[in-house]
Amino acid sequence: MSRREEFLAEMGLAPIWRLRNKEKPRQEEACSDSRKGWIELKQAVPACTACSLHKSRKQTVFGVGDEQADWMLIGEAPGAEEDRLGEPFVGQAGRLLDNMLAAIGLKRGENVYIANVLKCRPPGNRNPAPEEVAKCSPHLRGQIELIAPKLIVAMGRFAAQTLLNTDASIASLRGRVHAYAGVPLVVTYHPAYLLRNLPDKAKAWEDLVFARKTMAGL
Ligand code: URA
Repeated sequence: MSRREEFLAEMGLAPIWRLRNKEKPRQEEACSDSRKGWIELKQAVPACTACSLHKSRKQTVFGVGDEQADWMLIGEAPGAEEDRLGEPFVGQAGRLLDNMLAAIGLKRGENVYIANVLKCRPPGNRNPAPEEVAKCSPHLRGQIELIAPKLIVAMGRFAAQTLLNTDASIASLRGRVHAYAGVPLVVTYHPAYLLRNLPDKAKAWEDLVFARKTMAGL
């Protein structure tokens, strides 16, 4: 009981009636819609047979992290390790990604959500086929809608081209703020590409600094 309430009680004027918070039921509704949305999506992805990748996968790789994150990082597709463990970016590219995140003060799972365009591994790590991307896109769109991040970082050509619906190169898309469904989006190189092209790490660092600055201004 607050001092004011104690005082009013002593004066015989308690209880005090408060105006009901009109926002609350709406907030609660939104929370329960979002909870339902996550449950449905987390059932739909492992059950998905929309393209032939379901035949060769060990398991689907849904995504990982804070479901209320401000940051959402999006890669291409699971590799062998991800297919085995069910989590995105857990192989060598993932270690580089974790270091990149640490460089801008971020940590996997803390205000960060990581997902891929494809939820299943393309055999032999071949490039995703357009039909696979088209069939899988609703899953990613659902994740983005539920998380409602403040900023998306598209890593690599497939994520950038899929989300921005363009054929433009990463080089031409870097350094600007784009948008996906109204969410600001920046583009950078894919960590696996950086492992093979070390000189471009400096450019990826520039992109991360740009992303951090963009987030600070949101
Ligand atoms: N490359 C990706 O694009 N995603 C992963 O999860 C792993 C490697």
